[in-house]
Amino acid sequence: MRVCVIGTGYVGLVTGVCLAHAGHHVICVDNNEEKVKLMKAGQSPIFEPGLSELMQETIASGLVEFTSDLEAGVAHGEILFIAVGTPPLPTGESDTRYVEAVARGIGHHLSEGYKVIVNKSTVPIGSGDWVRMIVMEGMAEQQAKTGGAPPPVEFDVVSNPEFLREGSAIYDTFNPDRIVLGSSSQKAIGLMQELYTTVVARTFAEDKTLPPVPVVSTDLSSAEMIKYAANSFLATKISFVNEVANICDRVGADITQVAKGIGLDSRIGGKFLQAGIGWGGSCFPKDVSALIHTADDYGYDAQLLKAAVSVNDRQRLLALEKLQQELKILKGKVVGLLGLTFKPDTDDMRDAPSLLLIENLNRLGAKVKAYDPIVSQSGLRHGLSGVIVENDPLHMAEGCDALVLVTDWQEFLTLDYGAIAQQMHQSLIIDGRNFLDRSALESLGYRYVGIGH
Ligand code: UDX
Repeated sequence: MRVCVIGTGYVGLVTGVCLAHAGHHVICVDNNEEKVKLMKAGQSPIFEPGLSELMQETIASGLVEFTSDLEAGVAHGEILFIAVGTPPLPTGESDTRYVEAVARGIGHHLSEGYKVIVNKSTVPIGSGDWVRMIVMEGMAEQQAKTGGAPPPVEFDVVSNPEFLREGSAIYDTFNPDRIVLGSSSQKAIGLMQELYTTVVARTFAEDKTLPPVPVVSTDLSSAEMIKYAANSFLATKISFVNEVANICDRVGADITQVAKGIGLDSRIGGKFLQAGIGWGGSCFPKDVSALIHTADDYGYDAQLLKAAVSVNDRQRLLALEKLQQELKILKGKVVGLLGLTFKPDTDDMRDAPSLLLIENLNRLGAKVKAYDPIVSQSGLRHGLSGVIVENDPLHMAEGCDALVLVTDWQEFLTLDYGAIAQQMHQSLIIDGRNFLDRSALESLGYRYVGIGH
């Protein structure tokens, strides 16, 4: 099928390239010329494992093209994905101005033939109908400009939220737990199902023993709500386990064992029960706030969601609290952070717990150093203030009074902690993700402090 994906952030670029890999002919549109140039050369503007390789393969096969020409993209696609950002406003609402600009632009360039316009961005509930209205406004503006009879254009809007995780975005796209399609048009839903048939590994793979990926086909608003509810549930699940961890800390129980014990109940499930220093990233904070805001708009006080956020806000400062318990005065102390990104296998620093930790350590007069497998090697390090980003963990540990494991990068499991301890002023480690081998570290002479142990 002919597809146009507008916006080449995490969602758009991964979707476009995966659709091309599955045999569709995709044009990816972005208004950032620099980015387009980079992508044409097969280079990914974001760090996502396997993405550059897949880009190069699909560029070579001619199934993906990159352009800044929206008109060409709209003319090409029978399915048009809107995948631009919806960043949070200071109020917690989503900023939908980029979606609006794209919807209007689509309206300006629509020509003959039926099109499906797909909301892939996480948009406020009710946006499907709003996008239809803006596209029609765009069409009317174009008609007023050019005069003449309106073109016989027909289109439907579909909400098709993505659930991909950064760091495993490609795997998730080919192996989703479900596909959600929201529209009042059966024709549009049918075309979307056809589009995904070749994308979803399990439905077209040789292994027919695997069950097909379920498709939830519903109305626009329900599809939009599914995205918010899923992310809010997962964030709440983590806040729940973090709250239990804090109680474990006080009563002398071990959250790792408790999480295992409750996670084996199939009604609870073992995933997303990893206690730590809180959730971050581009999705959870933004989506939970947006859902709280939507509820507020309708006069409903979403108390459980607000509590999930406040537990998380407190959790993000837990490492600081533990440092104070261990070191007492932080003024003049040197703290080394292992990891800066909000989670491993990504270069994303959006809403990363490390940022708040750095800010507060600075406020209390501590010197902060850090090593991160990606940030240390990239230009991102220059954008950070209040922290000295070192190129290797050994160098970073020099003179440190404590290390804080902030991000559970696999690499941190195999560091030479014996050599690191030699560099430190005192060998204290706060494991903010309960990730490291406590007894191995203790046998090297470390004082080990985890979360909820
Ligand atoms: C999330 C959703 O998983 C994905 O479906 C959605 O489309 C986008 O948002 P992502 O932001 O990439 O994906 O991160 P995810 O892997 O879900 O982790 C979110 C945060 O929760 C991270 O800060 C992570 O460290 C934290 N987390 C996760 C925990 O603290 N404990 C856990 O058990 C799991």
